Amino acid sequence: MKKLIHKGIEDLIPYPPGKPIEELERELGITGSIKLASNENPLGPSPIAVKAIMDKASTLNRYPDGSGYYLKNTLSKKFGVPFEQIVLGNGSNELIELIVRTFLSPAEHVVQAFPTFLVYEKIVKGAGSRMISVPLSDFRIDLNKMAEAITPETKVVFICNPNNPTGSVLSMDAMRNFLDRIPNDIIVALDEAYIEFVSDEKAANGLDLLSDYPLLFVLRTFSKLYGLAGLRIGYGFASENLVDYINRVRQPFNAGTLAQAAATAALEDVEFVSRTLKLVREGLPYLYNELDDMGLEYIPTQTNFFLIKVPDGGKKVFEQMLRQGVIVRAMDAYGLPDYIRVNAGLPEENERFIKTLKKVLS
Ligand SMILES: Cc1ncc(COP(=O)(O)O)c(C=O)c1O
Repeated sequence: MKKLIHKGIEDLIPYPPGKPIEELERELGITGSIKLASNENPLGPSPIAVKAIMDKASTLNRYPDGSGYYLKNTLSKKFGVPFEQIVLGNGSNELIELIVRTFLSPAEHVVQAFPTFLVYEKIVKGAGSRMISVPLSDFRIDLNKMAEAITPETKVVFICNPNNPTGSVLSMDAMRNFLDRIPNDIIVALDEAYIEFVSDEKAANGLDLLSDYPLLFVLRTFSKLYGLAGLRIGYGFASENLVDYINRVRQPFNAGTLAQAAATAALEDVEFVSRTLKLVREGLPYLYNELDDMGLEYIPTQTNFFLIKVPDGGKKVFEQMLRQGVIVRAMDAYGLPDYIRVNAGLPEENERFIKTLKKVLS
């Protein structure tokens, strides 16, 4: 008898079937909930992107442009990366999956830090391969330990910079040292979903590394800074060679018409980008101050989200806050049961979060 599925899939934990906010509010008898759990943009989507969606809606009887011509051209001009070195994805999540499907065979291993973005492990295990997780050192990715974890079987390394859920960044020096040190037959997927929020000038930036490392894959997204998480559009930069292989595997219409149009427009929305950065850069110090006053520990961040250590465990705080209409993230799945993760929201959302946290902890 054949086995229905392989062990990698058997061991996976399904994505928690979260209820839509409207349903939750109905069940709990509350209104006006706020969500600070998914590192989304609290301002909504870029208005210019929304207009582009409206303008394109009447073309939806046609398949999307499989080459992503306009979006890739705009990305190429903005970042100075040749068109042939750009690939689009149905969210950067799809690009993570495509890297695994294209370059990894089941006998080959992947190395990641832990805790980090949970999707890497899910996809690698789902593909029947082994994930080697290297613990963080003091809430930071330790590239020395990661280099030591590499074996002849290692094919791909995932590095989340800045790291979700810790918000820490790696320096350019540390990243170059790592890339110079590891064998030159390993693909390094550098996930920069939150890179636009980083203010540390010494932080690594994949764009500046691309020309020196032909097996480097830089992943970015429109889900965070540009407020387009619901649309599912991300992009990657890599050598022409790597992009060519991904293009052989990806579905021709993986990036939808509305997603391409909205993302192209969003790249020009300078005003929305600066409003978003201002909101995050003013929101975080407010939250830090309040938490200092409450005597709570937190991990300072280079992103739009951060970890807070709470007494009695994150899950309990998460559940109690949920009943008050404030949705945060419990961190059990990340191996951090004493923490919650929150993103900076609108000023009134930040105030409500602090007020509710005080109430729940008192
Ligand atoms: C580190 C990291 N990478 C990638 C993603 C997924 O981005 P996308 O919405 O583009 O699939 C997220 C989303 O939370 C993330 O935190």
